[in-house]
Formats: sequence, C-alpha cells, structure tokens
Amino acid sequence: MKSLFTNIMKGFEGYTIGKLFKYLKDPAIISFAGGLPSSDVFPGDLVRNAVEKSLEQDPDRVLQYTSIPGEEDLMEAVVDYLKKDNVHIEPENIVITTSGQQGIDLVGRLFLEPKDIIVTDLPTFGGALASFEMGGAQYLAEDIEEDGSDVRGFEEGIENLIPEGRKPKFIYVVPDFQNPSGITTSLEKRLALLSLSKRYRIPLVEDSPYRELRYRGQHIPSIYSLDKNQGNVIGIFTFSKILCPGVRVGFNIGPPEVIDKFSSIKGANTLCTPKLNQDICTAFLREYDLDAHFRRIRDYYREKLNFFLEAMEENFTTDMGVEWTKPDGGLFLWITVPEDINTSELFFMAIEEKVAFVPGEACYPKGHLRHNTMRINFSYPTKDEIIEGVRRLSTVIKKYQVKRSKSLTR
Ligand SMILES: Cc1ncc(COP(=O)(O)O)c(C=O)c1O
Repeated sequence: MKSLFTNIMKGFEGYTIGKLFKYLKDPAIISFAGGLPSSDVFPGDLVRNAVEKSLEQDPDRVLQYTSIPGEEDLMEAVVDYLKKDNVHIEPENIVITTSGQQGIDLVGRLFLEPKDIIVTDLPTFGGALASFEMGGAQYLAEDIEEDGSDVRGFEEGIENLIPEGRKPKFIYVVPDFQNPSGITTSLEKRLALLSLSKRYRIPLVEDSPYRELRYRGQHIPSIYSLDKNQGNVIGIFTFSKILCPGVRVGFNIGPPEVIDKFSSIKGANTLCTPKLNQDICTAFLREYDLDAHFRRIRDYYREKLNFFLEAMEENFTTDMGVEWTKPDGGLFLWITVPEDINTSELFFMAIEEKVAFVPGEACYPKGHLRHNTMRINFSYPTKDEIIEGVRRLSTVIKKYQVKRSKSLTR
C-alpha cells in the first residue's frame, strides 16, 4: 500500500520528540526529555467539580457533538481573560482548538502549499516543524539571539526571496520563553517583528503556551497586543501548560476571515472540541482563583529552574566548554556542548547512564540541522532527580569526550 502514500507522507517521520519516548520506558531513567508540566500543579479539585457540574446541568448537550468554532461561554471567558493582557478582541476573533498542536496545524493547512517558505528561528518548536512538514514547508531560518529572533537576518532573507517570487507565507515565533531555547524576545525585537510583518504583508504567528509562566523580570507585551488587533498577527494559545495538557483545549485568535477558515478546516478535521473539556476550561477562567493559581505554579517552577541552574553550575566546570541558557520562565533550557559532540549519539550513551534529554536536532528544520545542542525540561523531574540527573549528564559528556579522543588518537 506504501506506493499509494502521498509523496510528502512517504518521507514523513512524525514528531521526532514523540518518538524518543520508546527509549525512556526504564523507570530508572531520569528524563529531562518530555515537555511535561508537573502534575503537582494540576488543579484536580477544579477539574473534578467542573466535570460534575457540567454533567449535572446539561448531560444531553455535554455528551453531544458541539459547535465547531467552540462553546460561546468559553469564547466569552477567553475574551475577558485576554483583556488583562491588553488584548481586546471579540468572539469572532476566536476559534477554540483541540489544543495548541491543532492551532499550529490549522495555520499550516490554511497557508502552506508544498515548497512554501516559513520564516522562523533556529532552533524552534519541533511540534510545529512536524506539522508544517506535512504541508511541504521550506524555511528561511536564522539563529535565535539572546534577545530573540534575528530580525535583520529575516529581513535580508525576505529581500532575497521576493525577486525569486518566493515571498514567505508566514513568520512563526514563540516569543515568551521559547520551546526549546527558553529565550524571551525583547520588546524592541517584538516591535521589529511586527513592523517586518506589516512592511512585507507576511502574517506573524505568535505561539504563546508559556506566557503566564514568567518567574523573574518584567512582563513584555505580546506581539498580538502591540498590533492592537489590526490583523497582522495570529495568536496560538493552549490550556496545556497553565491548566493541564490532558484537557486538550486551546484557542487561536486573529482576524475574522482567518478564524472562519480555521473553523472550516477544524470542521473537516476533528469536527469539534469536546464540550466537557471546554466546560472545564470555562470554569478555570471564570471560577478559579487564577491569580493564586498562577502564583503557585510560578513559585513551583521557579524553584525547580533555580535548582537546575545551580546543579549545572556545580557539575559543568568552565573547561568542559558547555553553555546553557538561563531562562526567565517556561519549562525548558537549552544546552550547547562543544562542536565535536553529536547529541543524537550522546543520547544513546545517556540512556545507558540512565538520564535523557532531547537531542537538539529535533528542533531544527531539515537542511538546518545542528548536532551539538540539547533541550532540557526542568519542570517535571523532582529536585532529587535534578541533582542526580545533572550529575549523570556531566558524567556522560565527559565519557563521550574521552571515548572520542581515544578513537581519534587510534
Ligand atoms: C511552543 C509550543 N507550541 C504548542 C505546543 C502544543 O501544546 P498542546 O498541543 O499540548 O497545547 C507546545 C507544547 O509543548 C509548545 O511548546
């Protein structure tokens, strides 16, 4: 049957990070690989009460198919929630999604034809790369800098592509505590990205799963809020990291003509998002003490992050040539090891040493791969696991270097 697969699907291997999990079944492995928020901060009480209430109040509707764009109650709650972040929109600017990954997929399906170009950072979110690969995307990609995207590099690249009739279809960025690097885009760069988007009329896709998870430093306005709902930006949001990923609910925001199309695609794809799960999210936004909840999860993750950074300082002496980002929020940090280390090979040695990470390759588009980086998730492991896991990580890097220098001198 394989010969009948589409050409794109023949070579498609799916979400690289998802496929790593088959190597992590041994419970002795300390994993820094998954992008998992910690279940310690899931509001189980809220979910239980919301499910009971929803089933009691309207069991027929709850268990029925529901509206494709989403439940009105939830959309209205989202409108109010976003006002606090200076985003002023109407329900016509929203489509409820079956989480952020679907939000991303809708963007690719709407804009991409094979060989179309996306502007993005190196590295960037592997799940987005997997989704856009299904649309046959190619990339104008530049190394992310300490304060976010290399906007000048983007502009030069766009200028070079336009005469070839290959203007990029959209710019995809994760400005807040990017997955995977943990880097936050400065206000200057957000404004520069927006003006790039306006000047060249290329939509800017702002993926914001971690926006609430700031542990230090000043809040920076979202690019959507800077655009004042003028229609240049599409926002992708999810409840996965602020409530729990199991509800699989998120929302995209943007100009009504884009949102209408997203709904049409969603209707032909997953049809609708379960009402029960949407009701949980509505209760979360309307009835839960969000300020207290966000304070609690920020405190919890800040402690883990600090703990991780301290363990890195202790175990990675300067002579090892290892560098890492020090994020202000989110769930990840990014490690760069000396160039002679291939982290995809190192991954298998690390598994033997009972520690795991995501080889950086999973976060680069094809044709832009780098071999000496890794993504680390600090939110899921316990403190003891962090101490032991970082120790194992430094041991395995040293072992790799010894093994490599032996093989070179042979
Ligand atoms: C940048 C980014 N976008 C989107 C998602 C999708 O998350 P979900 O589908 O769980 O909402 C993730 C998940 O890790 C992410 O890191």
